[in-house]
Amino acid sequence: MNTGKRNYLVAGNWKMNGSRSLVNEFIDAFSGVKFNHVDVALCPPSLYIPAFSGKGIAIGAQDVSHCDNGAHTGDLSVSMLTEFDCKYCIVGHSERREDHGESSRTVAEKARKVIEAGLIPIICCGEPLSVRENGNVNEFVESQLQAIFDLIDVKNLQNAVIAYEPIWAIGTGKTASPQEAQDVHGFIRSYVATKDASLAARIQILYGGSVKPDNAKELFAQPDIDGGLIGGASLKAKDFISICQAAS
Ligand code: 13P
Repeated sequence: MNTGKRNYLVAGNWKMNGSRSLVNEFIDAFSGVKFNHVDVALCPPSLYIPAFSGKGIAIGAQDVSHCDNGAHTGDLSVSMLTEFDCKYCIVGHSERREDHGESSRTVAEKARKVIEAGLIPIICCGEPLSVRENGNVNEFVESQLQAIFDLIDVKNLQNAVIAYEPIWAIGTGKTASPQEAQDVHGFIRSYVATKDASLAARIQILYGGSVKPDNAKELFAQPDIDGGLIGGASLKAKDFISICQAAS
């Protein structure tokens, strides 16, 4: 279903879910599976990252410290992620912003660390329901992304990925309609174009929020949606594979 726009990326975010047996189930399910024009990645809890090393599945972390190695109990550094072949790192997920009070500035610092280490940041943005109801979605998302452009030179964002995840659609089963999602994705791309037109044309913008096998195809068909960041449905190998196939 690739329309010749950009390559798709479908990334699974396991959040604080999973087990050794689920890791093994995924390694078995993915062995020998190929997708056309779709990059596929899994972001399991960090403890399970080493188990995926060398298994042919691109791996990402769900978060990273904005600091270098040192006295930061409980945190992981980018140098650790690179040692275990991580290709991607999610930064600024709304659950991190809410549960850990991460500001957009901290998220930008994390994205910078990820880029400096040669990994690809998946930079999350997205509004709560109250912002949508007030009609201020674009302003809200712009302010989250502005922090990225304030800190990081556009030439260093060439491989970055943006994920738009409306908070009211996360884990609720209430997905944004393809048109609602496209409207924000289109806005994000036009906002990026105000910084750098060629970056806007190439940057992958993923949609996240209750993506399932039965709605993925329609979402991915939108001109500015380049794949998905998948939560709940990435915990079932069959569902995750069918979402990846919807993009291929
Ligand atoms: P769900 O797919 O469970 O709604 O989660 C989306 C998400 O937050 C992915 O990062």
